[in-house]
Amino acid sequence: MSKVVAVVLAAGEGKRMRSGRPKVLHRVAGRSLVEHVLAAVEAAGITESIVVVGHGGEEVRNELGPGFRYAWQEKQLGTGHALAQARDLAREAETVLVLCGDTPLLRGETLARLVAEHREQGAAATLLVAAVEDPTGYGRVIRDKEGRVQRIVEEGDADAATRAVKEINSGTYCFTASLLWPALEELRPENAQGEYYLTDVIELFCRRGYLVHALLCPDPEEVLGVNDRVQLARAGRILQRRINEELMLKGVTLVDPDNTYIHAGVEIGRDTVVWPFTFLEGKTWIGSGCVIGPQASIRDSRIGDETVISYSVVRESTIGNRCQIGPFAYLRPGTVLDDRVKVGDFVEIKASRVGEGSKVPHLTYLGDATVGKEVNIGAGTITCNYDGLHKWPTVVGDGAFIGSNTNLVAPVEVGERSVIGAGSTITEDVPPGALAIGRARQVNLAGKGLEKLNAKGRVRDEQR
Ligand code: UD1
Ligand code: CA
Repeated sequence: MSKVVAVVLAAGEGKRMRSGRPKVLHRVAGRSLVEHVLAAVEAAGITESIVVVGHGGEEVRNELGPGFRYAWQEKQLGTGHALAQARDLAREAETVLVLCGDTPLLRGETLARLVAEHREQGAAATLLVAAVEDPTGYGRVIRDKEGRVQRIVEEGDADAATRAVKEINSGTYCFTASLLWPALEELRPENAQGEYYLTDVIELFCRRGYLVHALLCPDPEEVLGVNDRVQLARAGRILQRRINEELMLKGVTLVDPDNTYIHAGVEIGRDTVVWPFTFLEGKTWIGSGCVIGPQASIRDSRIGDETVISYSVVRESTIGNRCQIGPFAYLRPGTVLDDRVKVGDFVEIKASRVGEGSKVPHLTYLGDATVGKEVNIGAGTITCNYDGLHKWPTVVGDGAFIGSNTNLVAPVEVGERSVIGAGSTITEDVPPGALAIGRARQVNLAGKGLEKLNAKGRVRDEQR
């Protein structure tokens, strides 16, 4: 089979975005536009991609990383010129699949079909085209009386009759390499934008009598190109709908899919229910039978089965099975909760492990702590883990009971099955099984209180 190389054009500035960032790095559903395109290429089974970069090229390259090869287009002279910059890197390709970096909705299966038809037809070029309601901004596909593609006319160069054509060029093509490269050298920037249009290659091929084939994309949504932020939002919505529908069909209940935001690549097990205004982002994996949300924001985390998380923020954490989180918990990077842990309201945990069956029910901060199994952390307990210079660890043994409003001044270790009296400030290690009380003893001074309350229960001024 002939060797296919994909070339993704991503050197343009994207002026219509009015942005300080290159257009192709704008994100939808957790990935940049160009990453979505590259993912579709990969899903089509094409293993080699060249990305043409230019405007903000370093930024694009840093973000995409070393999995691709990069061609540089110093000046953005048009799509034809951009593609020509990939010629040396694509030397070995017999078939070149060309894509724009701003079409994030393309599916892998469509690209695979485009390549397959190109081969079957023995075409010089195969275009992916679509019939759309509103063709504004796209190149129009002009066919002859027999219905054969003749050329593509850009919006800026089109007369009224041409503009009325609703068949558009998606900007995705397959070319036979040996015919493509010399044709690119013949392009001239004689058009409204003064650019070297890749689309002009089509007319050139047709005039030479080469076979130009067109594949009509069955789903016109797939070819949406993002040129401005209105289209960015539209693409985001379509992608989100796709992701959500796929999850629902796999057995996840989304109570209100229009108000549930899940990044591409997030995995969720069967019978998990996701309530609205929930954000599941990055590399996140959620088990089965969980209840997530309303208003959970979870990023780069792993959640076990049958865990419940509501009104909470979770970052780079690992949570076990049958845990209960929230409402209003904040789990920061490095949090590890074993099975059946309860973390309640206004609890913040960072870089800490909490053992099986332990409870941190309210108003607590745990930082750099290791908490054993079946521990109870009373309301208002704080690990004082930072002395202004260094972070220090706190260790709490299995079965310990920490009374409310305890300060654990790290480094400190609280032994197994020990008890800490409420309101203690613990600065020294507590041996296993001990009762520790670290607070001033209470004194009651007779007659020094408020003598009387008035009839309404308010304190009289003169008694203060
Ligand atoms: C292009 C097509 C148009 C098609 C549409 C589909 C041309 C001349 N027109 O128009 O027929 O309907 O895409 O979305 O090809 N780029 C470079 N270097 C450049 C110019 C552009 O790398 O010098 C890249 C851009 O980063 C972008 C892609 O090529 O990813 C397309 O460029 P854009 O300016 O968006 O082209 P359109 O006007 O949308
Ligand atoms: Ca475009």
